[in-house]
Amino acid sequence: MRERRRRAESHLVDGLLEYTREFSNVGNEPALIRSICDVLISLTNLDNVTFKDLAIRLVMQRHGPTYIHSQMVARIAAAFAMTLADRQPERFAGLLGIRDPAEIQRCKPEIDRIVRNAGLFHDLGKLMCLETVTVYNRRLFDTEFDIIRNHPICGYQMLLGDPSTEMYAQSALMHHRFYDGTRGYPGLPKDFVRNPDLDVLTDLITVADSMDAATDVVGRSYSTEISFEQLVKEYREEYDTRYAGYVIDLLDDPGLVDSLREILDVERQELYIECYRRFRQELGCECNNKDAD
Ligand SMILES: [Fe+2]
Ligand SMILES: [Fe+2]
Repeated sequence: MRERRRRAESHLVDGLLEYTREFSNVGNEPALIRSICDVLISLTNLDNVTFKDLAIRLVMQRHGPTYIHSQMVARIAAAFAMTLADRQPERFAGLLGIRDPAEIQRCKPEIDRIVRNAGLFHDLGKLMCLETVTVYNRRLFDTEFDIIRNHPICGYQMLLGDPSTEMYAQSALMHHRFYDGTRGYPGLPKDFVRNPDLDVLTDLITVADSMDAATDVVGRSYSTEISFEQLVKEYREEYDTRYAGYVIDLLDDPGLVDSLREILDVERQELYIECYRRFRQELGCECNNKDAD
């Protein structure tokens, strides 16, 4: 048993160290390695832990707001995806390898799972820069912006390196780029070949990412509140330029709008509360006195 745990630990550590070596210019490896060790120590059963599980725990441990943001993006993108699967199931044909629209609709639970994962992993590259730049509540230096702007590439390379996450690499790489390819960041790696079957994930995550960022006045000190109506108006102004028009079109569905409002207003607050509770548990500072919550 102990030997099995040791082998699992060394496999995970080797894998993650390999990723960190790719990014020696960030100067953040010691902190990341410390976090990896902390997470490994906190796991009691490593038998079924994949790189995917470990990566999510690392984001949670290193930067709560990014963990909550990733959960929000997963939920928002999944809400859009369910409406899209009803209206235009063929958009998921390449992703699922299925042509028949009725069969695609029967695969909605699978679509939901894939889209949520894409949301959870889209900012994984921030693992490489969080402690370097994102803790400051001030205007960033140009060098710091460069590091931040590199997070899609870091995430892409990390996700590409493991079979359990490789299908989420493209959306992590492209989520800050414009739909029409004219602007955004980062520049694409020379050897990158876009897989059109995965475009639907990028298109959903890009909208979901901006929707959470624009409406989160809890976790982002630089956000100013923007109404949902104003946000939809801005999306329509960037129809088929910054955002995929076929995703923006879904916003005329009252059921989807209700779900999004619920996610943005109610579920976000619940997520923050749940996260604080989990952090307290992991820190071992749970309190018996209910009034203290
Ligand atoms: Fe991002
Ligand atoms: Fe993001």
